[in-house]
Amino acid sequence: MTPILMLGAGRMGGAIVEGWARAGAFAGSDLMIVDPQPSDVALAAARAGARLNPPDSDLAAARTVILAVKPQKWLEAAGQYASWLSPDAVIISIAAGVGSQAIAKEFGGRTVARVMPTTAAAICQGTASLYADDPAALSRAHALFEPLGTVVDLTDEAQIHAATAVSGSAPAYLYAFIESLEAAGMAAGLSAADASRLARSTVTGAAALLAQTGEQPAELRRQVTSPNGTTEAAMNVLLGEHGLPPLMREAVAAALRRSRELGA
Ligand SMILES: NC(=O)c1ccc[n+]([C@@H]2O[C@H](COP(=O)([O-])OP(=O)(O)OC[C@H]3O[C@@H](n4cnc5c(N)ncnc54)[C@H](OP(=O)(O)O)[C@@H]3O)[C@@H](O)[C@H]2O)c1
Repeated sequence: MTPILMLGAGRMGGAIVEGWARAGAFAGSDLMIVDPQPSDVALAAARAGARLNPPDSDLAAARTVILAVKPQKWLEAAGQYASWLSPDAVIISIAAGVGSQAIAKEFGGRTVARVMPTTAAAICQGTASLYADDPAALSRAHALFEPLGTVVDLTDEAQIHAATAVSGSAPAYLYAFIESLEAAGMAAGLSAADASRLARSTVTGAAALLAQTGEQPAELRRQVTSPNGTTEAAMNVLLGEHGLPPLMREAVAAALRRSRELGA
């Protein structure tokens, strides 16, 4: 499955390259990176032996191609590189919204898998939702993303929209939650530094406890919510009529709609 060609190594493509290096999943020399403005991660990969912006004629060596440009730029990238690739190269697309049939068409009928990753791939704690019609392409996607964290197989390509809304886009939801908690802490009288330390450490500690205990989040919530106590007072707001459940449904529905638009 190597050499692996990364078409675009920005935020997400760079996180994948970083995670592979951290996991020791692939040797630097297994990677080829094409990006007009190489990031520090791409430059570090090049120092470790990756080929950075090789001549187009060398792209035929790639066995696996990760399409990691913005959804708005994928057609341009396909037009630029498809004709240089080997006919048996497998295309693994991480572009939100763009369907595998359209990708296969623009990449000359090559086999396609779709993956919706998260940026924590950089520290091998990512989450990747995978879909491919073709079993060989699916197992290729597994081999690429298993070193980077949790892998979830989807049974239907249409579910990628939901996986994007619930996973690919979701780190930003949590960061927004932490920002809001910090701001609320300052409004409640804490210094900016204390509000920031308390909010970040509490959230990462609670997430680690969830991961390590394997308990249901609802059970962990109940464990820290005494009847008529302070947490319950906050929960009455957060889980109330206009609280998190309807807000999260609305946010996920908005991301889902946008994912469908990007693929249209
Ligand atoms: N960021 C996330 O959290 C996340 C999560 C899941 C999936 N994704 C998916 O990952 C893909 C990349 O997103 P991103 O956030 O990493 O975007 P990004 O930071 O803009 O990275 C894309 C990179 O591709 C480069 N590029 C543009 N056109 C190219 C071309 N024709 N050939 C080679 N490289 C080209 C860009 O260079 P320029 O800056 O010069 O254009 C940029 O460095 C998107 O399709 C997105 O849907 C992202």
